[in-house]
Amino acid sequence: MSFMLLKHIHTSCAAISFVLFFLRGIWSFNGSPIMRQHWVKIVPHIVDTLLLASALGLVITIQQYPFIDAWLTAKFFGLVMYILLGSIALKHGRNKAIRISAWLAALAVFAYIVLVAVKHNPLPFIH
Ligand code: HEM
Repeated sequence: MSFMLLKHIHTSCAAISFVLFFLRGIWSFNGSPIMRQHWVKIVPHIVDTLLLASALGLVITIQQYPFIDAWLTAKFFGLVMYILLGSIALKHGRNKAIRISAWLAALAVFAYIVLVAVKHNPLPFIH
């Protein structure tokens, strides 16, 4: 598969993942019945799996890897943080204040990951 196609899949999945996470936060905080719909439990996992699979394809194509290239190490840990904060926001947070704080922090981490991706730099605010 070509690099450009992989990158299109990757960035599209990143955008869809963001929109779904944003909406699921709002639905969850509002107690919306949408959160109980079947697709809401399934589609985010499919999108996130594709996001990761395309990430794997991209790193192999450009031969740059987490724990070797700093910007990809940053993306890796960013993704781990995004997943952990996301699970606190949508599932494990003990009360609404904790869940909303985790949701906001996850959105900020997501923005950081995109900046790191665009700049190929783990400190995108500085350089
Ligand atoms: C929430 C998670 C992620 C988001 C939002 C994200 C976002 C992006 C975006 C927006 C780009 C395009 C950058 C550009 O064209 O300038 C990109 C490219 C890329 N991402 Fe991700 N990414 C994520 C996770 C990962 C992970 C975990 C890895 C691997 C460890 C990874 C590896 C790559 C690679 C290798 C590219 C291609 C860079 C290039 O153009 O040379 N991504 N990502």
